[in-house]
Amino acid sequence: MIVARTIPELRERRVDLPSPVGFVPTMGFLHEGHIALVHQAVEECAATVVSLFVNPTQFAPNEDLSNYPRNEARDLALLEAAGADLVFIPNAEEMYADNHETWVVVDRLTRRLEGTVRPTHFQGVATVVSQLFHIAEPQQAYFGQKDAQQVLVIERMVRDLHFPVALRVGATVREPDGLAMSSRNTYLSPEERQAAPVLRRSLDLAERLWLEGERDAERIRKEMTELVEQEPLARLDYLSIADAGTLEEIHVIDRKALVSLAVRIGKTRLIDNAVLPPGEPLLARRPA
Ligand code: PAF
Repeated sequence: MIVARTIPELRERRVDLPSPVGFVPTMGFLHEGHIALVHQAVEECAATVVSLFVNPTQFAPNEDLSNYPRNEARDLALLEAAGADLVFIPNAEEMYADNHETWVVVDRLTRRLEGTVRPTHFQGVATVVSQLFHIAEPQQAYFGQKDAQQVLVIERMVRDLHFPVALRVGATVREPDGLAMSSRNTYLSPEERQAAPVLRRSLDLAERLWLEGERDAERIRKEMTELVEQEPLARLDYLSIADAGTLEEIHVIDRKALVSLAVRIGKTRLIDNAVLPPGEPLLARRPA
């Protein structure tokens, strides 16, 4: 496994890789969710590139950039064991020149859900992912469904800017009690950790109600909200049942829907989601 820290170094190594190249962009501090994406890439592609970069532009000034957990040595050991071929670990200066002023803005999709609370987040994500796609030139790129809105935003960017990259979405990897794996879970105190599976429980409730035939989105939102509010440590940021393509809120679940929520447990903000009908892929299948 080769480690490259600069863009020229990465490009020099990238040209030697056989196609198709799979790419897994990450912010490091890897957990089983990331490693599952790397395994998928290794299985489906001739070579796998992974990036470890805590992207400053997707954090607002009040967010956790400086405290974001990092452990490069452990990440590299995990990636080597998972079969990655090339790892890109740039620093912020490598990715953003002093006078950087070019941004990728995906418009309407980013104003909903996470965008209501984190208005500049997706501009940072879309910009860095487009930079990384230009640098790594993958044929396939792997993202986790836990960040469902991110997947939809990147899909739109890829389509609108004609990136020759096929997106692959990995299922959310969960702890045994249902909590979605996330680097931010490490911020939770033992008491908060016990409260955190309330997100998955509320999504289970939505799926159960849908399977019982409920199609009134407002009734499902209400029952989910009540369940979350029963957890004293949880504070709901938003709870949404939206069209899975446009992220517009819906009244009647008569099409593929994304149920998603963001919950603060203490100072930690957790997100999770489920697609209705249960088991439907988030992204529409495209002809090969
Ligand atoms: O999902 C993440 O870890 C980040 O948003 C990504 C895609 C690596 C961009 O910084």
